[in-house]
Amino acid sequence: MNQKGGVGKTTTTLSLAHALALSGRRVTALDMDPQGHLGKGLGLNGEAEQGLDEVLLDGVPLEDNVLEVRERLRLVPAGERLAEVEMVAQGGASRGFRLNEALQGKMDSEDFIFIDCPPSAGLLSMNALFAVEEVVVPVSSDYLALHGVSRFMMILQHIEQALNRQMKVWIALTRYQERRRLARDVRATLAEYFPGRVLATPVRESAALAECPGHGKTIFEYQRGGNGAADYRQLADDLATARTV
Ligand SMILES: Nc1ncnc2c1ncn2[C@@H]1O[C@H](COP(=O)(O)OP(=O)(O)OP(=O)(O)O)[C@@H](O)[C@H]1O
Ligand SMILES: [Mg+2]
Repeated sequence: MNQKGGVGKTTTTLSLAHALALSGRRVTALDMDPQGHLGKGLGLNGEAEQGLDEVLLDGVPLEDNVLEVRERLRLVPAGERLAEVEMVAQGGASRGFRLNEALQGKMDSEDFIFIDCPPSAGLLSMNALFAVEEVVVPVSSDYLALHGVSRFMMILQHIEQALNRQMKVWIALTRYQERRRLARDVRATLAEYFPGRVLATPVRESAALAECPGHGKTIFEYQRGGNGAADYRQLADDLATARTV
């Protein structure tokens, strides 16, 4: 999750989910973004007309909308009407807990469940936050990204207080350009402000990562020997073993 757009949320969700599935874990990815990019990145082309929209709007069970997309990797697509969730007026505070409720007692056989969030702080994002134990915040390595992340961490703290429970929050550096001093500075600053929270491996800027969604392939199918695949394989390992800077 990150309210800022284009920081690599979907790329990170997709790549971590597939990396962990390839390493033998059972993984389900939920697409909480009405843009439906997660499904597109996996090669789905509009055939997934229903998904989380039915679950959150009509109370359809989650397992009715699970697609097997790769070995050990399942997807619950966004569905065409997911944006309507932001406009649900009735239900008061319970509107934020619909995903949490839909997940109760479900998916217990999964090792990891990932939720790709939209670049906004509305009801969809709230539903995701109220359903999870851990939050991964992808941060692109530039100055404005740094500003956004401090605000977001404060919002998270308020939510933790309201829910009266702690979440594990991880920062993942994306679109990292090693040769730029700014990128190295951003990484150092984040490590200083959020000790033990910044996952060890920065994901480098790589053309293949930008290209692969256009082919409906994950980076491990598109260019498994390249930097993008190597970085996300490592980052998946960082997440699984809590390895930080
Ligand atoms: N490490 C990288 N190197 C090069 N391109 C990248 C990298 N990570 C992501 N991209 C590209 O940057 C763009 C934005 O990435 P992505 O869609 O993952 O961001 P997002 O945060 O999910 O965006 P949104 O806020 O719209 O949901 C995409 O075109 C993606 O392919
Ligand atoms: Mg996205």
